[in-house]
Amino acid sequence: MKYHIVTYGCQMNLHESEKIAGVLKEAGYAEPAPIEEADIIVFNTCCIRENAENHAFGNIGALKQLKRAKKGLIVAVGGCMVQEEGKAEFLKKKFPFIDILFGTHDLPRLKALIEEKRARKKAVISVSEERGETEDNISPVRTSYPNAWVNIMYGCNNFCSYCIVPYVRGRERSRSAAAILREVEQLVADGYREITLLGQNVDSYHDGEVDFAALLDAVASVEGNFRIRFMTSHPKDFSAELVAVMKKHDKICKHLHLPVQSGNDRILKLMNRRYTREKYLSDIALLRHEIPDCEVTTDIIVAFPTETEEEFQDTLSLVEEADLASAFTFIYSPRTGTKAAQMEGRIPEEIAKDRIARLIALVNQKTREKSAKYVGKTVEILCEDFDGKKGMYLGRDEYGRMGYFKSEKNMVGEFVDLKITDANGISLYGEIV
Ligand code: SAH
Ligand code: SF4
Ligand code: F3S
Repeated sequence: MKYHIVTYGCQMNLHESEKIAGVLKEAGYAEPAPIEEADIIVFNTCCIRENAENHAFGNIGALKQLKRAKKGLIVAVGGCMVQEEGKAEFLKKKFPFIDILFGTHDLPRLKALIEEKRARKKAVISVSEERGETEDNISPVRTSYPNAWVNIMYGCNNFCSYCIVPYVRGRERSRSAAAILREVEQLVADGYREITLLGQNVDSYHDGEVDFAALLDAVASVEGNFRIRFMTSHPKDFSAELVAVMKKHDKICKHLHLPVQSGNDRILKLMNRRYTREKYLSDIALLRHEIPDCEVTTDIIVAFPTETEEEFQDTLSLVEEADLASAFTFIYSPRTGTKAAQMEGRIPEEIAKDRIARLIALVNQKTREKSAKYVGKTVEILCEDFDGKKGMYLGRDEYGRMGYFKSEKNMVGEFVDLKITDANGISLYGEIV
């Protein structure tokens, strides 16, 4: 039987979908297929911003016809949106044709839920409070070769005032370092060339004995030809130990994704981020002192409640001062149940749109300037894929920049030295040296 999974949201969710595929395989759905041919369709949802939810609503709604036409088709909806308070019942009402609703803690039970659904007509709903265990015996069906995602921890305890993640992913739980190392060793033996360690806040990792810097040190000490990424770091937990480990190992990409959210101290305080602009800038100065070629990327929210024009300009100036290579930028989206959703001083949409447009223009300019400096240089790319439209292979350097090149031979999974001949916006073009 065939399956189709639609994923929304972060890398953690992409990896969760690989685990969903693993469970489906055990339940007899072994083959991925286009949506029209699938016997089961699973939506793995996200609720970080309103538009993520609207996107899913649209796609789920569009299934009504197919569901009516195709007898025996199972439609399952899971992930962060289903875990929101009252959302499972809301979804069931809005889309009565949904067969299975499962929350973020119910993935290990998905096979049983499918069996339950096959045995009865009524929809099956399972939204648990806690997952509890940190090892769930699911073998993921990996889809991102040559990269492999590895969870090091689940959940978040930070409660940034705008964010819904702590409510839908539960409290922090770290996997044991021994289990993580076993997984990494196996992945490297299987030929994966990039390991990305995943957690909402990797710096909080602690299995009782090993902290994040020590874990990273251990992972980077695994023998083999591969490189390591990790995300996401939180500025409040930035440490000299982490920088020392990054500096020590060539395998660790010299790239830190360090979401700043805002460049203004009053807004950072309202966001409950627990660091200041000064601290962020001095941490980056330390990082660059130790690892001069390290690139830093970030996440930024504009138009947080009560943000003034001057305070927004502090964010613009921080992007310059910190010399950030790139940023994911978002307009603040109120999330029911979070502290910020109750704050007064919502920023009108036109102002929010104007702010994000100015921010994106600045970020793009910084990215282009940095890319242009690569022309004439040689960079190492890990080849990820073939782009049929361009007729070129593509991959990323350690900073996450995309590089394109031509080759007669299939290069996917190979480290390639590219002499850069052209830079177009965020993409580099080159020839194999
Ligand atoms: N745990 C990570 C990622 C969280 S979600 C971290 O702490 O950085 C990814 C990004 O989405 C956040 O960094 C933030 O910039 C953005 N985000 C989260 N909640 C949001 C909201 N309510 N409105 C707009 N952007 C939001
Ligand atoms: Fe959300 Fe903050 Fe946790 Fe990140 S650290 S997931 S932004 S609450
Ligand atoms: Fe990720 Fe969205 Fe959930 S960003 S953790 S899938 S709310």
